[in-house]
Amino acid sequence: MLNIIIFGAPGSGKGTQSERLIERYNLHHISTGELLRGHISAKTELGQLADSYISKGQLIPDGLMIDILGDTIDREPAVKERGVILDGFPRTIPQAEALKKLMEDRGMKIDAVVGLEVPEEELIERLIKRGEQSGRSDDNLETILKRLEVYQKQTYPLRDFYEKEGIYKAIDGLGTVDEIFDRICKSL
Ligand code: AP5
Ligand code: MG
Repeated sequence: MLNIIIFGAPGSGKGTQSERLIERYNLHHISTGELLRGHISAKTELGQLADSYISKGQLIPDGLMIDILGDTIDREPAVKERGVILDGFPRTIPQAEALKKLMEDRGMKIDAVVGLEVPEEELIERLIKRGEQSGRSDDNLETILKRLEVYQKQTYPLRDFYEKEGIYKAIDGLGTVDEIFDRICKSL
């Protein structure tokens, strides 16, 4: 059984590669972004709150995000039975520390952090292109630039955090979806 974090900047291909990985390794997929967008579509109270951050390119506060992740893991037996791929979580050092404890408390651990490394110009190009159709409130140039800035400041330091734990796998995230998927599978 495998528990993986798929890590990388906005537009690096986390969602795209997760779709392949869940099939190949029979994993349960938790995307915190998708989960929050589900709440936005359903117009729940959490959705309204989440959109006030997402549309500005900011992160949802750690305490709230950590509670949501814990609840999601506990509600979904497949996480423990099949293993999980976390997409979009953790995004800050406090989230990574909370995740470590959360996994330990449940007798689980993260086996690998797959880091998709893509130059910024390519990220911007991909997200602007997706924004033509996605309807996502954060796929416009101003918010994309903010998301990249937030990534650099708050999320990128996790690369170092997981390198120190010896589980970070750097993946060249440029190329076709198949090529990148191949690189990930070889690294696992
Ligand atoms: P989230 O939904 O996680 O968005 P993100 O990290 O900004 O990343 P994206 O989903 O935009 O990109 P991706 O890496 O999945 O790439 P994709 O495969 O789609 O989070 C959204 C927001 O929610 C956050 O900003 C925050 O506000 C909030 N949030 C979520 N989690 C949180 C947390 N833990 N804490 C606090 N706040 C949180 O690919 C992108 C595009 O490129 C697609 O169009 C795709 O088709 C294309 N593409 C993919 N691969 C390739 C390729 N190889 N070549 C060319 N194009 C490609
Ligand atoms: Mg995504």
